[in-house]
Amino acid sequence: MKGIVLAGGSGTRMYPLTLATSKQLLAIYNKPMVYYPLSVLMLAGIREILIISTPPSIPALRALLGDGSQLGLELSYAEQDEPRGIAEAFIIGAGHIGDGDSALILGDNLFHGSGFPDLLRTSRQRLDGCTLFGHPVSDPERYGIGEVDAAGALVSIEEKPLRPRSNNAITGLYFYDNEVVEISRSLAPSARGELEITDVNLVYLKQGRARLERLGRGFTWLDAGTHDSLLAASQYVQVIEKRQGVRVACLEEIALRMGYIDVDSCYRRGSDMRNSEYGRYLMEIAETVA
Ligand code: G1P
Repeated sequence: MKGIVLAGGSGTRMYPLTLATSKQLLAIYNKPMVYYPLSVLMLAGIREILIISTPPSIPALRALLGDGSQLGLELSYAEQDEPRGIAEAFIIGAGHIGDGDSALILGDNLFHGSGFPDLLRTSRQRLDGCTLFGHPVSDPERYGIGEVDAAGALVSIEEKPLRPRSNNAITGLYFYDNEVVEISRSLAPSARGELEITDVNLVYLKQGRARLERLGRGFTWLDAGTHDSLLAASQYVQVIEKRQGVRVACLEEIALRMGYIDVDSCYRRGSDMRNSEYGRYLMEIAETVA
């Protein structure tokens, strides 16, 4: 399975913060935003990842993450020069995806909860068509919404409905089989001029091959696409990290625990950043795991 992080968009909702930088490089507490979605793909066991962003943002993302070898990953980069929709990621990323499955995650989504790596692994194994991940929200009219029947099967999907049939938001993490490329190519732009991910999901739903994995209430899903949600995400990470003494989305720690890098590489990365708490944490983790 190949991964894609979609870190595009003009970030106009975040102006003036995003006049000179990409939204996905803004801080969620103590790390760049893009670390959080990247950590999810890593936890899913995905190591070949394409990062799609706007032409001006790619040099900065590349400066931050490079070719990914420091994390035991293979990272590549591609441009989305206009915000033409989430589903365009599969057209831009067709060469990267090849003939296998893919996972897409939006660059401003944060997922956190115990048992997540297991859930990602079993979802990969059970993939037949598409797997979506649902999470309850208090403002369902802002999201893609999935309605399930009594048996838990997905029966409808609506994008930002005026009268939502449920509070189950479809999060910005999606697993697909290879058909997603052809489906995305066949879409017409929506009224807002975008290739909608919800339209892709509706094709799978019609085929009876769309599954909704519901992330329960012990789980946290946040998006950080507005000033308030960015601050809320930062506060969330701060509370968890301070209280528990662990790090959320610490990429080198995940790489070490997943066996993508060895203890020495983790320690060296920490030592290079030893003036920061993040760097000292990496050195500590390397010593604990060693
Ligand atoms: C997009 C999708 C929506 C999904 C949301 C998750 O919305 O269109 O279905 O629920 O991401 O973050 P957008 O951010 O484009 O408004």
